[in-house]
Formats: sequence, C-alpha cells, structure tokens
Amino acid sequence: MDRASLYSRYNGLQKTDASFVVDNYLRLVKWRSDEVVLDVGSGDGDVLFDVLLPEIPHDFAKLVGTDVSEEMVDFARSRYKSDKIDFVALDISSASILPEFHDFFDHIFSFYCLHWVVEQRQAMKNMFDMLKPGGEILVTFLASNPIYDVYERMAKSNKWCSYMTNLKRYISPYHHSENPETELEDILKKEGFLIRVCRMEDRTYTFPSFSVMAKSAEAVNPFIKKIPENEIGNYIEDYLNEVKNLETITIETTNNDNNNNEEKIHVPYKLFVAVASKPV
Ligand SMILES: C[S@@+](CC[C@H](N)C(=O)[O-])C[C@H]1O[C@@H](n2cnc3c(N)ncnc32)[C@H](O)[C@@H]1O
Repeated sequence: MDRASLYSRYNGLQKTDASFVVDNYLRLVKWRSDEVVLDVGSGDGDVLFDVLLPEIPHDFAKLVGTDVSEEMVDFARSRYKSDKIDFVALDISSASILPEFHDFFDHIFSFYCLHWVVEQRQAMKNMFDMLKPGGEILVTFLASNPIYDVYERMAKSNKWCSYMTNLKRYISPYHHSENPETELEDILKKEGFLIRVCRMEDRTYTFPSFSVMAKSAEAVNPFIKKIPENEIGNYIEDYLNEVKNLETITIETTNNDNNNNEEKIHVPYKLFVAVASKPV
C-alpha cells in the first residue's frame, strides 16, 4: 500500500475507526512522563497526528511513526514536522528489528496495519521486544471484512486472476478463522504479553456514494499497481459490481434535494482491539 496522497484523501473509514478505538480504549493505557511512543504502520501520518497526538499526554519524549512503505514515510515526514515526532521505515514483520529499538518504547500503537501482516507471530514478537518492561500495546486491525470476499471472487475470474496473485498476503489472516479472538489471544500470550483486552468489535462503515467507495478501494487495493493503466477503470467497475452482489453489504437508495437517486453503501466488518502489556 503506497498511494500516500490518495490514501490521505480517502481514509475516512480508517480515521473513524481510529477515533472509535482511541475514544473507547485509550483510557485503559497507563501513562507516566517522558514516554517514548511508537505507531506501527503510520501510513500518511493523519491518524497519528489528528487522532492519537491530541489525546496523549503532551509531555511525551518522542513519538515515532513507522511504516514499511518508504513513500508513506516520506509523505508523513514532509507533512508533519516537529522536534518530538519522527517517521522511519520499518517492516513490523521483519525477522530482526533495529537493535536500538529493543526495550525502547513505553507504548506501541497500531491502527489498521496488522491485517496486512501474514507473519502475525513475528509482528507480535517484534512489538514485545521493542517494548520496555511494563510497556503497553494498543492495536486495532481488521479481523474480517466483506471486501476480502470481493478480492476472492475477482481472483477467481479469468479476467483478473493474473493480477490478483498471492491473494493470501492481502487478506486478514483471521478472515476465515472460526475463532479469531482466541487465535489472536493465543499469539499474544505465546509472545509473553499480559492481555487486558482482546476482542472483536462489530462495526459498520457507510460510504456516502459508490464513487467515494471506488476511490477508497483504489487507495488501499494492493493489486491495482499490477494492472495496466487503461484497465484500472474496468477493474474498479467489476469490483463495484461484486460489492453489489454481496449479500452482506447493504445499499440504501435515497432521493436527494435535486431529485436524483443517491446510493449509500453500508459495509459491516469485524475489528480487533487488543490492549496488552509486557511484564515488568
Ligand atoms: C491502511 S494503512 C493505515 C495507516 C494509518 N495507521 C491509518 O490508520 O490511517 C496501513 C499501513 O500499514 C503499512 N504496512 C503494511 N504492512 C506493514 C508492515 N509489515 N510493517 C509496517 N507497516 C506496514 C502500509 O504501508 C500502510 O501505510
């Protein structure tokens, strides 16, 4: 995912969920002073800056946003300049993290990133290793979403299958789990975390129109970069048709002031929220 500028215009869903999680779960986090804070998968930096920063104590020592995408890191760095805030490239699933980040952070946050990570154990291990003893994580990411069903259907079609390869990498590892909460809980426990909360929230996001939904999809769709420029419009059209075919997604048609039909798209999905700490 690296279309930073498009993402920053069409991240309404992600920002809404980040606000929901901060509003409802940040109170569980214990703060001291001079804390060092990490945001994993900080993307364009919007959530870090607009949602997280206003809600954390102002006397933190350092806030580091990290992302696997250099484009995202550069974009965030160019927009949000501050002595106490920095953005660096880091793959949270990498086999070895920077030694200087070991036992370094008091708090690790992550919004809408970890469903991109197949190597869940490695990511959780890395976060555990990067925390100071007594440090805490607050992470939120997709457990499942009907959009993954759209990917699966399209990947089976002759038209798009050659572009939609390696599908498993781009679907939440829990999308087909029978008991996702237990699975995540087990991983966190095995990596040594003490769990305060590990649950799935039932959420619904309403896209105000199909054109906004199309742009939002384009901003995060991992296959688009493989599709020839002149085929992208066609791909998005098929994507929206598959959305219309899904029973889980509801389309509400209303009449606006100009007597035109407007279609809102209600997408239900499940969002993990986990709060856990590293033992002292
Ligand atoms: C949907 S964006 C979320 C950005 C931001 N946290 C937000 O809530 O708007 C997901 C971000 O996770 C990043 N990402 C994906 N895999 C990652 C990995 N293995 N390590 C670090 N970041 C990753 C992507 O590059 C992308 O910027």
